[in-house]
Amino acid sequence: MELIVTQNYKQSCQKAANMIKDIIVQKNDAKLGLATGSTPIGVYQRLVRLHQANELDFSKVRTVNLDEYVGLSSDHPQSYRYFMDKHLFDHINIHKDNTFVVSGMGDLASNALQLDRMIYQGGVPDLQLLGIGSNGHIGFNEPADTLIAESHLEQLSESTIQANARFFDKAEQVPTQAITMGIKGIFAARKILLLATGIEKKQAVSNLFQDSVICPHNPSSFLKLHANVTVIIDSQLAQHVDPQKHTICYAC
Ligand code: PGA
Repeated sequence: MELIVTQNYKQSCQKAANMIKDIIVQKNDAKLGLATGSTPIGVYQRLVRLHQANELDFSKVRTVNLDEYVGLSSDHPQSYRYFMDKHLFDHINIHKDNTFVVSGMGDLASNALQLDRMIYQGGVPDLQLLGIGSNGHIGFNEPADTLIAESHLEQLSESTIQANARFFDKAEQVPTQAITMGIKGIFAARKILLLATGIEKKQAVSNLFQDSVICPHNPSSFLKLHANVTVIIDSQLAQHVDPQKHTICYAC
């Protein structure tokens, strides 16, 4: 794993957006795996600015998102389809038909199968953007005795529900289930770019770089198996990464 330490969140977002820009400049029909949550918002703002400055053309870009809450329709302000439109798609020249956020309504099993198909249709993502949960989840793959490889219905952990309650009026309104890419779908991407910010992520980031152990109770630890992972953190979080142990991870 490559670790990039920046001075602050703004710089992390600039770095991440520039990496995405480089991919699109090299390949105008690049496919991006995208994430939601607070962390990528600054990346999307930067991508919008690059587009507005005529530096980035999304007309042939394709996207597939990691996950969606169960029970929220696409026009619900907390659905991830709504999030993507609001923070990115409505401000760039992407064709909405080229964007895919799985539906959390209707036949959930067949929606999960459709998400798996969309990961591979027309080629795998050139890059998968990831945040990380304070419990180490990636996508909505929650810590458990076992993880599911393919896209699937996931029961959200209590800590995730609590963490995401800030987006809803009441914790009881947070959906308790989501459809998420599994580890296999996430790993299909040629490159994975994980961004972490905020002191509440310190344990998750420290665990990621602590040793070479892979454990389903820390889903992000599976990233040690992917050949092309870059993690961007700011200096506040970097204090919790042991540089020597990080070197061990670098080799894995
Ligand atoms: P956050 O969520 O960016 O809102 O902290 C990240 C995640 O849960 O993967």
